[in-house]
Amino acid sequence: MEPGFWHSKWDTQQIGFHQNEVNSLLMKYWPRLNLSKLANVSVFVPLCGKTLDICFLAELGHNVIGCELNETAVEQFFTENDLSYSRNRVGGLQKFVTEQVSIYQGDLFSLSPETLSGQEEQTIGAFYDRAALIAWPEEMRQDYVQKLAALIPPKSVGLLVTLDYPQEALKGPPFAVSNDWIMTNMAEFFEVEILSCEDVLSENPRFIKKEVPWLTESVYRLVRKG
Ligand SMILES: C[S@@+](CC[C@H](N)C(=O)[O-])C[C@H]1O[C@@H](n2cnc3c(N)ncnc32)[C@H](O)[C@@H]1O
Repeated sequence: MEPGFWHSKWDTQQIGFHQNEVNSLLMKYWPRLNLSKLANVSVFVPLCGKTLDICFLAELGHNVIGCELNETAVEQFFTENDLSYSRNRVGGLQKFVTEQVSIYQGDLFSLSPETLSGQEEQTIGAFYDRAALIAWPEEMRQDYVQKLAALIPPKSVGLLVTLDYPQEALKGPPFAVSNDWIMTNMAEFFEVEILSCEDVLSENPRFIKKEVPWLTESVYRLVRKG
């Protein structure tokens, strides 16, 4: 979606995507990345909003590096979690920093490996995408995948959470992303393993109200090739 769409969602606090708890799939499947054996791995969280998943990852001991377009979202993340922070300008983005968490506020497409500090670039070894890939309409999705692949080093492992449903039944976001789309468009950059695919229609009143006939949520383990 274009930036204006998201800014207006945050301005009016129409943020139905935000969860007031840590994502249950993150808690269940993060151990499958086997990161506990690797010391000092930083996790990149694209399109992070103000998700509490950042806190979960930091509590596991990771440094977390987020990227979020909207300034209010980033300010709310820090104030709602009682975190003091500093901010400065880096390469056209604002960087909000507290212990273990840095969030680059601005367009993901303005973030480059050169914008990241040397230490961040060297320590990113993992990533987490929930409601980021599925936030893009199909015509912008491949550009996002390429950008994500450019920002994370080879061998980085990640967890990706997607939704799929008949797209004609509902206007996104979230957009439907099928297993076929992932295999066709992401396998160039990532080794892809599906960890789960569950029917989640009964837990999503918005989809039931719009008479969407089916809805699945999938979790993937990705490894950046190279
Ligand atoms: C559907 S929300 C998901 C937020 C978060 N991942 C979560 O699980 O709550 C998508 C977020 O991406 C942000 N966003 C959209 N386009 C972006 C861009 N080009 N660069 C950085 N963030 C962007 C939006 O402001 C929004 O907060």
